[in-house]
Amino acid sequence: MNKIIFVFILTFIFSISLISKPKPNIGVVIYRYDDNFIYYVRKSIDDIAKSKANILIRNSQNSQAMQNDLVDMMLDKNVDALAVNLVNRNSSKYIIEQAKARNIPIVFFNREPLRGELGSYKNAWYIGGKPEDAGTMQGKIIANSLKKKPSYDKNKDGIIQYVMLQGDLEHNDTLYRSHFVTNYLINNGVKIKELDKEVAFWEKARANNITKKWLDEYGDKIEYIISNNDAMALGALMAIRDSGYNLGDPDKFIPIVGVDGLPDFVKEIKYGAAVGTVLQDPKEHATAIVEVLFNVANGIEPLENTKWVFDDGKSIRLPYKIITEENVSLAEDAYFKD
Ligand code: GAL
Repeated sequence: MNKIIFVFILTFIFSISLISKPKPNIGVVIYRYDDNFIYYVRKSIDDIAKSKANILIRNSQNSQAMQNDLVDMMLDKNVDALAVNLVNRNSSKYIIEQAKARNIPIVFFNREPLRGELGSYKNAWYIGGKPEDAGTMQGKIIANSLKKKPSYDKNKDGIIQYVMLQGDLEHNDTLYRSHFVTNYLINNGVKIKELDKEVAFWEKARANNITKKWLDEYGDKIEYIISNNDAMALGALMAIRDSGYNLGDPDKFIPIVGVDGLPDFVKEIKYGAAVGTVLQDPKEHATAIVEVLFNVANGIEPLENTKWVFDDGKSIRLPYKIITEENVSLAEDAYFKD
């Protein structure tokens, strides 16, 4: 009996100590607030984290110098863990050194630091997608769409003349997505020819201007628009619509494919104005980031009590999914309504 009472008291004390444990302080530094996909990740992080941590989120405004200052400020405030969406993936050295000097765990996300840098600090990790998969999946979407609609090859020369909108060239997502989409097509018997490619830094407005220029230059010769993300794909769609394309006439149609699953682009896929996208789930990214951050802020192993796995002891790679007309609801569920 005494033993039972003793165990009961111990359990009681333990539960109280858990309840009264202070919330950890978590800092999150974003590369820029006006990036569409990152906007959804940021809002989801805030939403998921605020009940269990004191969370401070800041905007680097696309400046690495400002990001470094924000990281210093957060470390000075004694955060228990830090999440960083790098401005420049080649510039993680300073941030890692600062975090390491104070032994503060750090989780990078979306923009992957150089492997050597990540490996230089045992309490540094990365969470993101596997960009080669996004490219391969875009390739599959294109190949399937051509099987269904051979008329996309407007000049019937058996070759798809395409233009490509790219994110910034320092970003792994840009390089891998761009390479693997064309790689898939070439390896699967789809003949392609690049008319042009240009960097639009993930931005809708820049992509809009570039596409207008392409229309002047190539007009009907453009048989496909491949975009590294949906925001740029939307900019392209607006441009071609201004020139009378993709407004309902099947003879005046340029297929477009993107990545992310942004609600505005998914709407266009639903209406048949775009062919498809590759879902990158912002809620899933935010959940993984917060769970790992919360663990390491509490001194627990990063993956404890989570379903995530490391592919190389350091990185969680979240899966992409193909989205076309048939399964748009998958993307609609991943993005919250504004
Ligand atoms: C990519 C995403 C883009 C953009 C970029 C920012 O993963 O697809 O839309 O958000 O990250 O780093």
